Amino acid sequence: MSKPLRIAVLGCGFMGRAHSNAWLQVNHFFPREHTPVLKVAVARPEEKEKLEKFAKAWGYESIELDWRKAIHRDDVDLIDVCLPNNMHHDVVIEAAKAGKMIVCEKPLAMNLAEGEAMVAAVEKAGVPNMVSFNYRRVPAISLAKQVIDEGRIGKPFHYRATYNQDYTISADVPQGGMALWRLDAKVAGSGVTGDLLAHSIDTAEWLNGPIVKLVAYTETFIKQRKHAETGKLEPVTIDDACMFLAVFANGSIGTFESTRYARGRKNYNTFELNGENGAVFFDLEDPHILQYFRYADPTTGKKIEDHLTGWQRIHVTNFEHPYMKNWWVPGCTIGYEHTFINSFADFLASLEGGPKFEPTMRSALRTQRVCECILQSAREGRWVEIPA
Ligand SMILES: NC(=O)c1ccc[n+]([C@@H]2O[C@H](COP(=O)([O-])OP(=O)(O)OC[C@H]3O[C@@H](n4cnc5c(N)ncnc54)[C@H](O)[C@@H]3O)[C@@H](O)[C@H]2O)c1
Repeated sequence: MSKPLRIAVLGCGFMGRAHSNAWLQVNHFFPREHTPVLKVAVARPEEKEKLEKFAKAWGYESIELDWRKAIHRDDVDLIDVCLPNNMHHDVVIEAAKAGKMIVCEKPLAMNLAEGEAMVAAVEKAGVPNMVSFNYRRVPAISLAKQVIDEGRIGKPFHYRATYNQDYTISADVPQGGMALWRLDAKVAGSGVTGDLLAHSIDTAEWLNGPIVKLVAYTETFIKQRKHAETGKLEPVTIDDACMFLAVFANGSIGTFESTRYARGRKNYNTFELNGENGAVFFDLEDPHILQYFRYADPTTGKKIEDHLTGWQRIHVTNFEHPYMKNWWVPGCTIGYEHTFINSFADFLASLEGGPKFEPTMRSALRTQRVCECILQSAREGRWVEIPA
């Protein structure tokens, strides 16, 4: 039986588009009881014209220029937060008080204190909630999780993650405004740590368990940039690049690197986990491939004597691969936008008695805590232990 799920999407930028598309598509590929209805699109009054075009393009029934009004509408069940980071806290708390379900983009918040208040609010209200760490639902990454959980990697030794881009190398790139609010610490909270490493940390802890301590170094290469809103040259206080060493609870050690100054890299989100019996490697710029190295049999631990031993490139498009039986036929790839569709499919299933959705805001708070420890470590130039 179909049950309308009336959605307000807040923000009509990059994620507003990705989420609108996913809500429209999800039931075509993953039949669920809930039928998403794009009820209202929300942006600021100064973007009315852009919002109208957005609403028309995606088939929204209405628009609102005041996010509070959208939250308190009786014909809205779910608030989908696709707004810059400095708005997540107020919007989520207001939505929780109004008893609405909440989807929130990552990073959860500007800082840990905000994140804690948000978790307290959603838990007090008892509203279903999720944070959009969508890379967990790249089928190749879900397959990596399966391979690790099956014991095929064995005792892990090394975790290695990168998340590199190159779009801020020019000193002429301003800070502030559409998309470039990421360069303004007052709006973003932090630089690559919250924006990119939050993804790497969520994936790493999901695959390899909790990080117990770390030491970080951050750099801001361009110290002043014109601010898009004031037109003035203003100090840049975000981290342009961040590297950290990590020790995991399982005894393995990790390196993490993120920058927006890696000339040639656009969305180079990679990880490799090397264990005693095998290894996995993933690169988001080649998203349908999981590389797997098989050294020993997971059940006997014995070396597999095989002259063909080597890295396998698994084309993750078979029906038996995560999510893929709901898509096309084997050999046909899916892409970036599908990670959001897979996420909403799981979220809707969780509302209908399926497995609990992860990550909730409570789980995403963990990533926020690690980010906070990274920034603290870089500021103080020392190792920081991460509370469990
Ligand atoms: N999961 C991912 O892979 C991923 C990717 C990109 C961005 N994000 C996250 O998504 C969020 C949004 O990022 P984006 O790239 O879509 O940003 P964006 O700049 O493209 O869009 C932001 C939108 O928010 C709207 N907005 C800003 N202030 C507002 C206000 N006061 N009232 C109503 N609307 C307002 C803007 O009009 C714009 O439409 C951020 O938290 C970001 O970190 C996640």
